[in-house]
Amino acid sequence: MRSAIPGTGAWCAGLALAATVALPAAAQDQATYARNLSSACFTCHGTDGRSVGGVPPALAGRDKGELLEMMKGFKAGTRPATLMHQQSKGYTDQQLEAIAGYFAGTTKGPAAPAPAARVNY
Ligand code: HEC
Repeated sequence: MRSAIPGTGAWCAGLALAATVALPAAAQDQATYARNLSSACFTCHGTDGRSVGGVPPALAGRDKGELLEMMKGFKAGTRPATLMHQQSKGYTDQQLEAIAGYFAGTTKGPAAPAPAARVNY
């Protein structure tokens, strides 16, 4: 279809192309956002949710819905905890969903060994 305004056809085609190219970048931003949020949990639950010896419980590769329900339970105070009440209260439900999705997408496995101590510095 010809554009009613001369010269806008190419501009519109360019815009449509930009929109399709921008989608993967937006998905990448969302993945980075979810990982950044989840990194606050790595200290205790291990990098990518693979905790050392399973204490506290590993989060890697678990069901997203189950993780989200547990986090909402901690946030509401209905699920017993020592410190997860505090850890969960700072997040919106949308952020908790992003975090649950991130850990569900990671692979179960043993925690990575700590890097060897450097002796030659
Ligand atoms: C300071 C250490 C610490 C941090 C940080 C932490 N957790 Fe926890 N987490 C625990 C402990 C300890 C438990 C056991 C419940 C309790 O005593 O609070 C637990 C339990 C859980 C459980 C329940 C697991 C199960 O199978 O019962 C989930 C889910 C969870 N944490 C998710 C998270 C998420 C998501 C984050 C980051 C937003 C996070 N935790 C940050 C220490 C931590």
